[in-house]
Amino acid sequence: MELTTPRLRLRPPRFADREAFALLFAEPAVRRYLAIGELDAAAAERFAEQFIGTSRYELRRHGSGALSVTLAGGGAAIGYCGIRPLPDRSDARELVYALLPDCWGSGLATEAAAACLDWCFRSLPMAHAIGFARAENVASCRVMRKLGMEHRGLSARYYDWPLAEYAAAASSWLAARVQPIEARRSGATVSLAG
Ligand SMILES: CC(C)(COP(=O)(O)OP(=O)(O)OC[C@H]1O[C@@H](n2cnc3c(N)ncnc32)[C@H](O)[C@@H]1OP(=O)(O)O)[C@@H](O)C(=O)NCCC(=O)NCCS
Repeated sequence: MELTTPRLRLRPPRFADREAFALLFAEPAVRRYLAIGELDAAAAERFAEQFIGTSRYELRRHGSGALSVTLAGGGAAIGYCGIRPLPDRSDARELVYALLPDCWGSGLATEAAAACLDWCFRSLPMAHAIGFARAENVASCRVMRKLGMEHRGLSARYYDWPLAEYAAAASSWLAARVQPIEARRSGATVSLAG
């Protein structure tokens, strides 16, 4: 499967993405907001391998997971974005994303996340997407607000500390999309409606 947006391409992670993800996970400005501690280059590479393996497994087993994000013109992955299963919920999944700092600030995370929400709401029996961010992670909270997700307050249900929780319902998401969007689980091309 593959999702395309005006500026991006999202596809299942490959082991060849290991180096790009290791750079991402070794980057202090990114790690600061993810639930991972300090990593040297070797540890970041091991973490990246594990992340790719888990994402590939979740995509195969559950039909959604983190996808590698590249620019539409190609090149190395600039980060990931996707919808991961939650351990105790079958009707809701978690929106996740992280991009290399060079790519921040021009709406790419929002563009990638909108494509992922659209893909999953249209192809999976998923009533809600939820997302979590540290309250001080202004950029991440803003991404979820721009996506139209509702702020539900703080929750420590899935992580060790209270995080701001945001949610989107499939019914409202799909109702708000005015143009038909084609999304097939296999070989899909998703065009964003805005
Ligand atoms: C969160 C992240 C993916 C956002 O990527 P991005 O491509 O810059 O996001 P977008 O450009 O789509 O949107 C970011 C929004 O936050 C705003 N923003 C960013 N930093 C801000 C700040 N310090 N104060 C106020 N607004 C801020 C931007 O202006 C933009 O809003 P706008 O479009 O209304 O101007 C990126 O910052 C990242 O990878 N962070 C580290 C990993 C992470 O936090 N992942 C999420 C874990 S919950």
